[in-house]
Amino acid sequence: MNLLVTGGAGFIGSNFLQFIYEKHPDWTVVNVDRLTYAGNLENIAHLSNWDNYSFIKADVCDKQVLDKIFEQYQFDAVIHFAAESHVDRSILEADEFIRTNIYGTYVLLELSRKHQVKRFLNVSTDEVYGSLGPTGYFTELTPLAPNSPYSASKASADMLARAAFHTYKQDIVITRCSNNYGPYQFPEKLIPLMIHNALHDKPLPVYGDGRNVRDWIHVKDHCEALLTVLLHGEAGEVYNIGGNNEQENITIVKKILAILNKSEALIQFVKDRPGHDKRYAIDATKIRIKLKWEPKIPFEQGLFETVEWYVKNQTWVNKVITGEYLQYYEKQYSQRIKI
Ligand code: NAD
Ligand code: TYD
Repeated sequence: MNLLVTGGAGFIGSNFLQFIYEKHPDWTVVNVDRLTYAGNLENIAHLSNWDNYSFIKADVCDKQVLDKIFEQYQFDAVIHFAAESHVDRSILEADEFIRTNIYGTYVLLELSRKHQVKRFLNVSTDEVYGSLGPTGYFTELTPLAPNSPYSASKASADMLARAAFHTYKQDIVITRCSNNYGPYQFPEKLIPLMIHNALHDKPLPVYGDGRNVRDWIHVKDHCEALLTVLLHGEAGEVYNIGGNNEQENITIVKKILAILNKSEALIQFVKDRPGHDKRYAIDATKIRIKLKWEPKIPFEQGLFETVEWYVKNQTWVNKVITGEYLQYYEKQYSQRIKI
């Protein structure tokens, strides 16, 4: 297999590369990443011994450069992770989300067609379905109803992928996964942010009443599902991926504090996220029945190991937290806390 991975220096992409290195070291893999604030070479430093692996710093929106890369490598498949991925950032400023997530996906689809790539996997999110009330689940037939600029940009990318399948008969598969957690997640997302703040005895900012629900999955389980869909998914199909693990945000925050033996007095309820989706819950019956995949890592174990990882890897955290991040953090939480 000759595979292009986009966004492989980010959280899920770097875990996916490690997973492929362990499972299929004979594959030829090219990782194209622009190295934004969320992409870090530290995440993939351990791949330096992998002979068949190359890293290329490039922007997925740069059609000319990407065309040359496609020409040179003649990929069998593309797995497309590269994206702006943080909802709160998309609310502050969405330009990069529109550019990378929509135009970048279009460029990759076009080049995959031109260079006759055999399979394109678009890594998407359950957030394209919008929000659930207290009951029910997202299935692959749930209508798309994105509520944030982030999820709207991801839904647009999914629609372009769908159009490529219908119009040009390209071999496209789409996955829509729930919230991931695990090592190398940038400390702006709920779990790593709460671990980091708790470790430094800083306030843990919980939006609204903390009762919003997400379905959490360990990133390794997601990677295994992605490989399964890449190899065995049916062209033109969408596969939901979930952890079968609904949790209220406040429950997770309290679990993290308990693991670290820190006081719940650190919890600070802050102004809610505008348009905050109440509940996500995945029905993953299709991938379970058709492709025989299901998540394996129990949440309590996965969360404990993740907290341990962040405790042991504070040097990594300090490296990825740049001036840009500190400015973002200040902007985000000074507005939220002053209510
Ligand atoms: P991330 O923000 O950690 O990483 C994104 C990566 O994409 C970074 O390495 C960044 O440098 C790269 N990138 C951004 N813009 C680029 C551009 N223009 N050109 C090339 N590279 C660029 O994101 P993540 O959490 O690893 O998510 C990866 C994918 O999975 C995204 O498409 C996201 O929408 C999707 N997803 C994420 C989750 C989750 O819980 N994190 C859940 C479901 C789906
Ligand atoms: P996040 O990790 O940003 O993922 P997403 O918005 O894509 O689901 O947030 C997960 C949940 O945690 C979401 O309901 C928002 C909430 N949250 C907080 O309460 N405080 C925070 O500081 C952050 C970043 C998120």
